[in-house]
Amino acid sequence: MNALEGRRISFSYPRANALFSEVNIQVQVGECVILRGPSGCGKTTLCQILAGIIPRSLPGEVRGDVLLFGENIGSLSLARIVEKVGVLFQDPDAQLFFPTVEDEIAFGPENLCLAREEIGCRIEQALEAVQMSEYRLAKTETLSYGQKQLIALAAVLALEPRVLILDEAFSQLDTASTQLVKEIIRNQKRLGRAIFLVENSEEHLDLAERVYELQGGRVQEVVL
Ligand SMILES: Nc1ncnc2c1ncn2[C@@H]1O[C@H](COP(=O)(O)OP(=O)(O)OP(=O)(O)O)[C@@H](O)[C@H]1O
Ligand SMILES: [Mg+2]
Repeated sequence: MNALEGRRISFSYPRANALFSEVNIQVQVGECVILRGPSGCGKTTLCQILAGIIPRSLPGEVRGDVLLFGENIGSLSLARIVEKVGVLFQDPDAQLFFPTVEDEIAFGPENLCLAREEIGCRIEQALEAVQMSEYRLAKTETLSYGQKQLIALAAVLALEPRVLILDEAFSQLDTASTQLVKEIIRNQKRLGRAIFLVENSEEHLDLAERVYELQGGRVQEVVL
């Protein structure tokens, strides 16, 4: 079953030429699909379209359809989308808003209106997953960029979304943290989550069932 699907998506930012056209993307339940492509080709933009952020919160002209478990994302409320799709931004500073790690991770589950106890469990589990339990009360601003990336990932995991969109999740991680995040991704696959990962490094191809390449405004599936 397709968890996430982009059908014939074309896009342009306001007063700009088309960034890409007729893009078809499919991510099935339990699959990790990698998107790669040169800097500035539109990978982050495509993530934002697939997550419903564009055109809902950021302007641009989108044609084509994004389907979440077969439902058109345009017909879903923001609350329903957030419940289903977790997005890890390329820049953790654009994602983290709260003074402490705990507040940051609590925000999503609080918005899902979960019970207090459940929120506590989610925070604990998410921090354990990224091996940062001892940072629960830490001030976010004191963390390194790589640690911020892990906390941003923990905040996404705490939502337990069925679809994960991870935009260059490894960019600032050391070797140990990279292995950890790879294990988290494998585990998410086993749980039946669908993962859309923007990643250019050949080293992480082992995670993927399929690879798409975005280049010159077109997406093609890469034969591995
Ligand atoms: N809000 C915006 N308004 C207008 N143009 C934008 C906006 N955001 C990005 N762009 C432009 O769209 C193009 C694609 O940007 P995007 O960030 O999606 O590329 P990317 O493939 O993710 O790049 P990178 O590999 O550097 O992360 C770039 O030329 C960028 O300057
Ligand atoms: Mg990008």
